[in-house]
Amino acid sequence: MLRVVVLVSGGGTNLQAIIDEVHKGNITNTEIVGVISNNKNAYALERAAKAGISSLCISPKDFESRDLFNESFLAAVDELQPDLIVLAGFLVVIPEVMIAKYRNRMINIHPSLIPSFCGKGFYGLKVHEKALERGVKVVGATVHFVDEGTDTGPIILQKAVYVEDGDTPEVLQRRVMEQAEWKILPQAIDLIANDRVKVADGKTIIE
Ligand code: GRF
Repeated sequence: MLRVVVLVSGGGTNLQAIIDEVHKGNITNTEIVGVISNNKNAYALERAAKAGISSLCISPKDFESRDLFNESFLAAVDELQPDLIVLAGFLVVIPEVMIAKYRNRMINIHPSLIPSFCGKGFYGLKVHEKALERGVKVVGATVHFVDEGTDTGPIILQKAVYVEDGDTPEVLQRRVMEQAEWKILPQAIDLIANDRVKVADGKTIIE
């Protein structure tokens, strides 16, 4: 069984998609062993509770320094002994020591087709605002391994979504979630749980 820890900050719809696909048997060999939020008001924590998954909140605001937070955060993650860490809308910068420790064992969902509309400053609604500003016709989402850069790690899965006339950033964000994020994030976890993802030369091979 792949021990998965999900890190969240907000609504947790991606967490919900993972929970649902595990229950439906579309993600196999996987157990969600914990949910960690940096925000005690995150609705994601309610979703975890409803699914009977243990959760905890750890916020940089409660520590005197970033180093002290990083230390406790990594200890909290380590304690759960994850095989895979899933960043599902997690808005805290991951400490470098944690990136190195969990290399190719930590994935992120980004709401664009990387390398478009990604990197510093591209998060949440901003991604969709920029896509609409540029007038692109196709957007999408990407699941990738986390490395030291921002959205630069090996790409695991991508899915395209059409922009439609009259889209607002909010409408487009919702469509990207429904049609892409909630599908490829569970799929990527299932592939990893079944040992089907290999990384070589900064790229993934799906076997
Ligand atoms: C998603 O759009 C995800 O791609 C982004 O943050 C959002 C999280 O939404 N990184 P939720 O908390 O899973 O509902």
